[in-house]
Amino acid sequence: MSASEAEVSELLESAVKNGLVRIAEASDLASLGQARAAVLGRKAALAQARSALGVFGAEQRRELGRRANDARVRLEAALEERERAFRAVEEKKRWEQERLDVTLPGDEPALGGLHPLTKTIWEIVDIFVGLGYRVADGPEVELASYNFDALNFDPQHPSRSDQETYYIDNDREVLLRTHTSPVQMRVMEASEPPVYVVCPGRTYRRDVLDPTHLNSFAQIEGLAVDEGITMSDLKGTLQAFARELFGRDLDIRLRPHFFPFTEPSAEMDVLCFVCRGSGCRVCRQEGWIEILGCGMVNVPLLEWAGYDTERYTGFAFGLGAERVAALAHGVPDIRYFYENDQRFLRAFEGMA
Ligand code: DAH
Repeated sequence: MSASEAEVSELLESAVKNGLVRIAEASDLASLGQARAAVLGRKAALAQARSALGVFGAEQRRELGRRANDARVRLEAALEERERAFRAVEEKKRWEQERLDVTLPGDEPALGGLHPLTKTIWEIVDIFVGLGYRVADGPEVELASYNFDALNFDPQHPSRSDQETYYIDNDREVLLRTHTSPVQMRVMEASEPPVYVVCPGRTYRRDVLDPTHLNSFAQIEGLAVDEGITMSDLKGTLQAFARELFGRDLDIRLRPHFFPFTEPSAEMDVLCFVCRGSGCRVCRQEGWIEILGCGMVNVPLLEWAGYDTERYTGFAFGLGAERVAALAHGVPDIRYFYENDQRFLRAFEGMA
């Protein structure tokens, strides 16, 4: 049964009326999109009215077609108006959100700084430079002959084993230096006394990492060779150094020790700067803290260098930079120096 003209007219009118209500009910762009489909889509009342037009004569069809067109134009106009309003609201919201206050102070750019370990090394080196020492350098990939032989290590010495040392070649002639002491030999080889040098540098050992051990770490070596150098020169120099680094009134002590490259050899302790001798956690109840190894340069080393051993004597010392930096700043685990955790590094900002 086909629809009458009156029915189509009514259908068009209600399509407009209901459509306008539907459009008015939309609360944002998304629901307006749904309303558009409901009022202009293929299943909408308007579309139904249009598809009913086929049965009418030409005149009626033109008239009804015109009205259907008007209905669509009204609905489209209403949709467009709502859409404009929603877009305006949205835009305003975006302006609010994206508003820039150009008068606010900017963020300071994050600047890099010196690593705390670097600062400690420079501080120590500076103390010796202040005493008249020169800074010397040597290779990290070193010959076993400089790292061990020239330094008077026994051929069977355990640190020569590849359990302890990183060798570069199968003949075990080339290695990653295990300490900065070979720089002593290179300096003496290249220069005549008097020699006063400090040698900061990276060193390597096959160690298992723990709070006090790394397999790559920094050492600072010191060497003085001159006429008439004695053990009391060594002690006086180390005392001056320790007071400069740890505080004016801290005493040091030397304990007998053994190193193949010094004779006699000693380890130097500094009075615990936390408890000042009474015993605490930092010094493990000792009252003293071990800082470095030292001694009088062993005569075979001076001979190796071709120095006149009747005329010249010398002292040497070597210290681990991480250990000293950790002690100076109360760092409980030397691995922190290599983790590059910004929170850790920032704690040293601004420190000399
Ligand atoms: N080379 C030693 C080490 O790696 C440290 C050391 C001790 C260096 C005594 C010296 C010294 O110059 O005289 O543990």
